[in-house]
Amino acid sequence: MSNMNRQWTLAGRPSGFPEESNFSLVESAVPDPGDGEFVVKVEAWSVDPYMRGRMNAQQSYSAPVELGAVMEGGTVGRVVASKHSDYAEGDTVYGKFGWQEYGLCDGTGAYKVDPDFAPMSAYLGVLGMPGLTAYFGFLEICKPKEGDTVFVSGAAGAVGALVGQLAKIHGCRVVGSAGTDEKCAYLVSECGYDAAFNYKTDTDYVAKLKELCPNGVDCYFDNVGGAITDAVLVSLNDFARISICGQISQYNLEKPEMGPRLVWALLVHQSKMEGFLVFRWLERYPEGIKQMGEWVKEGKIKYREDIIDGFENMPKAFIRMLHGENKGKQSVRA
Ligand SMILES: NC(=O)c1ccc[n+]([C@@H]2O[C@H](COP(=O)([O-])OP(=O)(O)OC[C@H]3O[C@@H](n4cnc5c(N)ncnc54)[C@H](OP(=O)(O)O)[C@@H]3O)[C@@H](O)[C@H]2O)c1
Repeated sequence: MSNMNRQWTLAGRPSGFPEESNFSLVESAVPDPGDGEFVVKVEAWSVDPYMRGRMNAQQSYSAPVELGAVMEGGTVGRVVASKHSDYAEGDTVYGKFGWQEYGLCDGTGAYKVDPDFAPMSAYLGVLGMPGLTAYFGFLEICKPKEGDTVFVSGAAGAVGALVGQLAKIHGCRVVGSAGTDEKCAYLVSECGYDAAFNYKTDTDYVAKLKELCPNGVDCYFDNVGGAITDAVLVSLNDFARISICGQISQYNLEKPEMGPRLVWALLVHQSKMEGFLVFRWLERYPEGIKQMGEWVKEGKIKYREDIIDGFENMPKAFIRMLHGENKGKQSVRA
């Protein structure tokens, strides 16, 4: 075991899109576990859109990362030293160890995963936070019924591609939007989407929704916000359900975008819009992971991952994901 722990810290707060210069690569000593603690050597790191919010100075639903502190994030790795009765050397665990090569843990927020069932990276995607986001955020808020039309924005991402497949399992018609023709083709050919459009080239979203959802939208799973969401709001059916998962089109803006006032659409269609944070269902994570795992095993849920090798590439992986260059769940492998 090396005695050097490389860490990516927050060097500066971005304005607009983050740049590599916002991060610093530093070294510290690998920690020793005290009584009731263990040390994990991380082998897979997640990079996620929410990390952009942590780079801002303002408090959101979670505190910002302080300047000079290690960037936050979900990771999977192996226990390399333990003085904890529940964790032994060699166990594979998930934990929020952040952008560093070694994490020290007393068990809080960590759980064991099975590396024989799925590769470690899957526990950062389909069997991890994005999978749970799709499972609970879609099923609990949209409450899909057979025959419903479901629209998903940010459809080809880690969360969106799974939401569409969950909708198909529940007998819905599913349409999505994504940022490249390749991603749209993938949604239809691999994920069972009935249709998908490229929001960067097909920019009359209201017309596109009329064409691809001729019977209106019953459920909307929103990953992006902005103009696409405006168009969905004027395409709703009565008693539609909208799950607000993310607003990535707004994360790198200096000023919030102004849009038309469309809340009337919720009134006239007697519809519901609800935001969520996945950890609302923390107690039910084991159920979500088990069910998603069964669907993966049965071939009912497919997933794709975009893995970059090398811890030194963490900022690159994060920034490319924010620019939409990822094809599937973005993560980094040691
Ligand atoms: N509420 C929660 O608890 C929770 C949990 C997890 C994730 N989320 C949210 O869910 C959303 C998806 O996350 P993810 O992990 O699955 O990421 P992801 O979709 O795998 O990656 C981010 C994608 O966002 C798209 N994007 C970037 N800028 C955009 C813009 N201006 N307009 C539209 N799309 C844009 C890009 O795809 P394109 O090529 O299609 O542009 C990019 O690939 C994010 O908004 C995230 O914050 C929420």
